[in-house]
Amino acid sequence: TLCLPAFEAYLKELGLPIPIPAFPSTSPIHNPVDIYRSYIAAALEKLIDCDRNLLYDSLQWTSKPSQGDITLVLPRLRVKAVKPEELGVKLAAKFPALPLVNPPAPMGSYLPFFYAPKLLPRLVLPFIQERKASYGQNPTLGHKKKAIVEFSSPNIAKEFHAGHLRSTIIGAFVANIYENMGWEVVRINYLGDWGKQFGLLAVGWEKYGSEELLQTQPLKHLLDVYVKINAEFKPEEAASKKARDEGFDTTEIESQGLFAKRNAFFKRMEDDDEAAIALWKRFRDISIKRYIDIYARLGIRFDEYAGESQVQPQTITAVEALLKQKGIYREDKGSWIIDFTQHGAKHLGTAIVRGRTGSTTYLLRDVAAILDRAKQYSFDEMIYVVSSEQDLYFQRVFKTVELMGLPDLAAKLKHINFGKVLGMSSRLGKVQLLSDILDKCGSAMHDLMKSNPDKYAQVENPAAVADTIGITAVMVQDMSGKRINNYLFDINRMLSFEGDTGPYLQYCHARLSSILRKFQSQSQYPNLTPPHTHTHHATYIEIDHSYLEDPHSTALLRTMAQYPDVTGTAYKNLEPSTILTYLFRLAHQLSSSYDVLKVVGAEEGPAASLARAGLYDAARQVLGNGMRLLGIKPVERM
Ligand code: ARG
Repeated sequence: TLCLPAFEAYLKELGLPIPIPAFPSTSPIHNPVDIYRSYIAAALEKLIDCDRNLLYDSLQWTSKPSQGDITLVLPRLRVKAVKPEELGVKLAAKFPALPLVNPPAPMGSYLPFFYAPKLLPRLVLPFIQERKASYGQNPTLGHKKKAIVEFSSPNIAKEFHAGHLRSTIIGAFVANIYENMGWEVVRINYLGDWGKQFGLLAVGWEKYGSEELLQTQPLKHLLDVYVKINAEFKPEEAASKKARDEGFDTTEIESQGLFAKRNAFFKRMEDDDEAAIALWKRFRDISIKRYIDIYARLGIRFDEYAGESQVQPQTITAVEALLKQKGIYREDKGSWIIDFTQHGAKHLGTAIVRGRTGSTTYLLRDVAAILDRAKQYSFDEMIYVVSSEQDLYFQRVFKTVELMGLPDLAAKLKHINFGKVLGMSSRLGKVQLLSDILDKCGSAMHDLMKSNPDKYAQVENPAAVADTIGITAVMVQDMSGKRINNYLFDINRMLSFEGDTGPYLQYCHARLSSILRKFQSQSQYPNLTPPHTHTHHATYIEIDHSYLEDPHSTALLRTMAQYPDVTGTAYKNLEPSTILTYLFRLAHQLSSSYDVLKVVGAEEGPAASLARAGLYDAARQVLGNGMRLLGIKPVERM
């Protein structure tokens, strides 16, 4: 918790008038750039006659440092009678002296402001050091509201494919950022653990099941059994489909062979038959136990392993009753359907809600699960992180909730989608489980590390480090582009230390850590980071900030100050690439600073070393915060 009086005392010490000028949707206590914006807007307010909130919003980011740190977009002010260019000249002439920024000079229809290099380190460094891991967070946004984030959601006894991998990576990020912004988050894994394929799995189990393999490698064994039985089932399925396509009755085909066995077993499950349920539950429980361990490797923990099977039967009944009551449910050749085209949603077509054999569908279970969760959690928002292949599907789910007369509930539902991963199996070989993917990337990384024996010898636990970096490589590759883009799974590129890759990002963090370790082992200030206090001015008392007014330090500090703006943007667009792009920018700036801003062996003497160590320490904090937000575990050595 941050304390306002201490915060104000710190600003006052920097020569800023108190109280902080107030504007809507700004949060100076969480965002240093908002401090700049607030004081600049307050100064401008006295010079022009225009809406003060419009004024605040017209202070914007620039894409190049040469265009200013913050710029006033003059045409946006819509001041009549004065041309933007003239307004710029006028404002620049009258702008009062502020310790925060250099005196502004107009640039066409912009009035750019540049941070004063003297104040910048004095403002930004204590700001970060005071907040540490919470720098970049803003709990006032979520206000303790409750969000459910549903992600990963693999299907038991089926392959964990790239779509599940992406859902896992992106979903973990979405959950983290909501938490960072003050939401109470419930992480749900909605397993595919129900449906006719379980009937088929049970039939396969009778034929191919091994108790021993189920205990030692449950996920793999169940998958193997399913793959075998499914191969046998394929011809029957094809025959039935062909018959149906040609307009024939399929009853006969489906009443024999594996078809009949599958349906019969699933029917027993739906009828709550004790033995059938017991077998299914054993598969489910043993799978979950294994999932928990594998997700832990990624630092992910779910609050609930839900699943299609967990939907309450009464809720399903209630959903169908409501659908009938609202006149949107109708029988069609033995199935129950919703014809969305009849209800103002042409593009959604028609969907089967209850199948011909009387079984529930994926859609029906999903709709019922929403009601169950609304009751159990009374969430304010529910986010589904699922591939864009299910775009239409989720539109149907949400529309159904709306048509049931629950528009407020429907408005709380959000589908966060993403594109495909191409060529994963052709690059990685046969990967079927999440652990396969992680193992392959980890061991490829391990091999790469071994190719540099000197360095390799220095790493304390190389296998664990390789595992972490391998995982980072997969995640960074996944989060590099916009979610909706497809990308090519490229193991060589993603493991490279060159370019904007996971290993490079980890290397940057490890390098900063190493610089700070060396500094601490050599310096008379072994405790660089002061104990956490609520008094800003007690922090960094020994640092002489005048060593941090040069262009390299200024550029770094400027970037570090942007971090809360970046997390704020990512919170809105839920694009991990927003964070990642920023982290690489910071990393590149750091790389080009080390030769100029030396810590060990600084020509300017020990006071300069200390100041720079403080700068790098804060940079490491920001880099680490960003990585952890993305779900990446920063390494200290590699
Ligand atoms: N198990 C599904 C699949 O593998 C994903 C589940 C997505 N979530 C949902 N509520 N439908 O395609």
